[in-house]
Amino acid sequence: MKNKILLPALFLAFLALTACDNSSSETQDSEKGENTMKPEMPTLAEDPHSFSKPNDVRVAHLMWDADVDFETKQISAVAKWDIENLSGADKVIFDTHNLDIKSVTDSEGNELNFELGAQEEFLGSPLTIQIDESTDQVQINYITSPNAGALLWVEGEDPFLFSQSQAILARTWIPTQDSPGVRFTYNAEVTVPKDLMALMSAENPQEKNETGTYNFTMDQPIPAYLLALAAGNVEFRAIGERTGVYAIPELIDEAEYEFQEMDEMLKAAEDLYGKYAWGRYDLLILPPAFPFGGMENPRLTFATPTIIAGDRSLTALVAHELAHSWSGNLVTNSTWDDFWLNEGFTVYFEQRIMEEVYGKEYSEMLAELSLQGLKEEVHEISEEHPADTHLKLELEGRNPDDGMTAIAYDKGYFFLRLLEETVGRERFDAFLNEYFTSHAFTVMDTERFVDYLKEELLTEEEQEQINLEAWIYGPGLPENMPEVGSEKIAMVDSLIQTWSAGETATADLPWKDWAYQQKYRFLSNLPESVSAEQLSELDKTYSVTQTGNNEVLFAWLEQSILKDYEAAYPRVEEFLVNVGRRKFLTPLYAAMKETGKMDMALSIYEKARPNYHSVATGTMDELLSWDENQS
Ligand code: BES
Ligand code: ZN
Repeated sequence: MKNKILLPALFLAFLALTACDNSSSETQDSEKGENTMKPEMPTLAEDPHSFSKPNDVRVAHLMWDADVDFETKQISAVAKWDIENLSGADKVIFDTHNLDIKSVTDSEGNELNFELGAQEEFLGSPLTIQIDESTDQVQINYITSPNAGALLWVEGEDPFLFSQSQAILARTWIPTQDSPGVRFTYNAEVTVPKDLMALMSAENPQEKNETGTYNFTMDQPIPAYLLALAAGNVEFRAIGERTGVYAIPELIDEAEYEFQEMDEMLKAAEDLYGKYAWGRYDLLILPPAFPFGGMENPRLTFATPTIIAGDRSLTALVAHELAHSWSGNLVTNSTWDDFWLNEGFTVYFEQRIMEEVYGKEYSEMLAELSLQGLKEEVHEISEEHPADTHLKLELEGRNPDDGMTAIAYDKGYFFLRLLEETVGRERFDAFLNEYFTSHAFTVMDTERFVDYLKEELLTEEEQEQINLEAWIYGPGLPENMPEVGSEKIAMVDSLIQTWSAGETATADLPWKDWAYQQKYRFLSNLPESVSAEQLSELDKTYSVTQTGNNEVLFAWLEQSILKDYEAAYPRVEEFLVNVGRRKFLTPLYAAMKETGKMDMALSIYEKARPNYHSVATGTMDELLSWDENQS
């Protein structure tokens, strides 16, 4: 597959020849030289979640000039896009969502005609701009809506703004070709209130300046879903030479302690699958309203503060986002139907980093939790949307957010684990290394990955043994699921039984010696028969309601709701009003709904909702039928 001897000129001619050939998917594999800075023009697959037609005209570079206004919760900006007209088209199409387009010009300032199409659910409106063959730049003058889906404006003493662009929310703050296959480089000049620092998924400042204006460069081509912006009163601390952490002053000491192992993780990752391609790797601790655990914005992972536990126990999340620097950011899913190529690979890679840094016993505990979550989710999804349990998804006409389930993550993980177990670690690692290197800065789809697997890794016998068809295009969990073995988890499982039945005394549980994974396992598997009194005893003995580990707390609060342990309700409310991480919110509100506590759910939600990001309110509004239930 590799062909490093192509001369640059020959290579360009090859690209030009193949660029217009819609039928060819071969071009995706086109090889680059060692330096992959320049975006290429392979033919891209149709993306049902973008209006843009990147095979006709494609963006190559963005110059973004922006002014961030906390008073109006708006960003006024000019997006200057360098474009490449691949087909002699007379128009270029961008994705937008609730953007107010003021004017569009070419690089000389000549007005260009444009039209904003009708708004569609999830997708927003196409912005169609008239161009001619000589147009090499369009400058779009616009202002964002105070309700821009990607942005959360945190008010109060510590004002903070952050974006969350994945999957299709970049278009709510920048007019862009918002499809994962379209890569571009960018620079930006961003002005924020003077007491705040601005940060992006780019080369970042490490100190505040007096003007409030910051400049950014991203020289490696990225897709729009990796565009990110934050502004807050943050400080920077170095961890290693290439790694560091940003957080508000109140959290910076704790963050510096918690993430000391970042450098070691980075080295472990490089030893596994090749050199880190992005320069620095920093972490930004966001306000607790961040709707996810983490987001792999290049050079600067965005993370929830709920992973700060004081004992470095929740750092697998950092390993995960770091792993995306290869799986996802370097080799990117072609469309959201191939989401497992981003997340399944990343969970596998995350596990390998964790094994390297913390040992096999530790990573097997994580694998056990992953397996449990997977089984539960397969069970849930199978009832309503069995096709959503396939690795290859079909999300056309739906919100791509629907694909964010344990299938992509954990079924994807177990599939790769099966590949590893079938061919042996040595062969599998060599394969993955080559996969990331030879496909760096390009897209991958499921079908081409299967071809690549067959060509580069699996013998026919191995293919049969694995049953690729069942894993990728079939429902549920195939029969040859890899087995996970963790003694530490098995020990908890047996104590769950004996403690629930009253055969093991609460005081005899080795609670204090347990890793958080064991506590989580214990709490999330308590049978229905366990009573509020038993929870009360657990709480009195181990102060569970006071735990500083948010994963343990979450599992505990869910049980408290399910088993009517009322002493924990104030903590439920406090947690839900403070924390906006969807993974925690959904099960907690769902537990209230299931157990006839809709009044409690709605009264908490009313208080909490203004603090949540659109990604979280989208899900919770539906779960709680918010529109109908609002008084
Ligand atoms: N890229 C995802 C977050 C994401 C996926 C945002 C799809 C929007 C749409 C990120 O890497 C992720 O997977 N985060 C997980 C943490 C991880 C340890 C499983 C999360 O936030 O829960
Ligand atoms: Zn991920």
